[in-house]
Amino acid sequence: MAHSGTARRATARAAINVALVKYWGKRDRAANLPAVGSISLTLDAPGSETTVTFDAALTADVFELDGERRSDARVVQLLDAVRAVAGWKTRASVVSCNSVPTASGLASSASGAAALGLAAWHAAGLTAPLTDPRFLDLVRRGSGSAPRSLLGGLVELDRDSGAVRQLLEPGEWDLRMVIASPTTGPKAVNSRDAMERCRQTSPYYAAWCETHPADLAAAREAISGRDLGALGRVMERSTMKMHACMLAADPPVRYWRAETMALLDAVESQRPRIGWYTMDAGPHVKVLCTSAEVAAVRAAVEPYAREVRVCAPGPGATVEVG
Ligand code: PMV
Repeated sequence: MAHSGTARRATARAAINVALVKYWGKRDRAANLPAVGSISLTLDAPGSETTVTFDAALTADVFELDGERRSDARVVQLLDAVRAVAGWKTRASVVSCNSVPTASGLASSASGAAALGLAAWHAAGLTAPLTDPRFLDLVRRGSGSAPRSLLGGLVELDRDSGAVRQLLEPGEWDLRMVIASPTTGPKAVNSRDAMERCRQTSPYYAAWCETHPADLAAAREAISGRDLGALGRVMERSTMKMHACMLAADPPVRYWRAETMALLDAVESQRPRIGWYTMDAGPHVKVLCTSAEVAAVRAAVEPYAREVRVCAPGPGATVEVG
């Protein structure tokens, strides 16, 4: 059925999120189903803002990112999934802005897919997205970590059901994340390909999946007891296991730069220990600490970083229709 009414529009905003217990690996590549669950922190730094307009006058979907026309199969796929639920054939224009560098390992794909999914869903007149597994499914197909950006604060994404739940509201724990970036260029291997390479070739992949549920349980306990040291230890363990799995792949996947090691040394050498690190598919080092510790963490990492940004826990994604 062609959508014959006037253009329907919605604008959504979603922030970046950083995993404390990592998601790495897919149990079903086509459906983008994760091999493991994950726990993340949504940040107050703005991530992506996306406007979707379904317009009967369009003959094809159009996508603009940061002022440039792009063609992206994943955007069309997500719009197709929304159209299938809505029973529409109408094409859409998508205008998106990323306030973090795209594809650099700073989670722009998560905020991007969350904002696009939310805007498209509402522009199509659909409702109650978080309780609708079809909505979570299409957001997750856009990016495996994207459903976590829908909620604020500390968030868990369940491996089996795909559901997201909030473990703590943004204001419930005085946390900060200091992001130290040695570079903002695009990453060498995208995370989808890197995950697949790990699954096929890394001898540590099975161990990564097997030991993961214990890390999730330890993190849940640390969060409910507001125990930053315990959360920090599981965070570091999780990121190092993920990177060890990558380093053992054939050929190896290494996102680290020399400055990454210097940043890790800077964090680890503080006595008493202040701040706990995590790293994703990029050279950036993200340090979790309390607000009172930010100045010390910043001073430790600044000599080795091109850019340092300090983020607090932030709210979930929002949407305006019209
Ligand atoms: O959502 P993706 O496909 O970009 O994968 C993200 C993977 C990591 O950032 C490395 C870990 C995570 O859980 O966010």
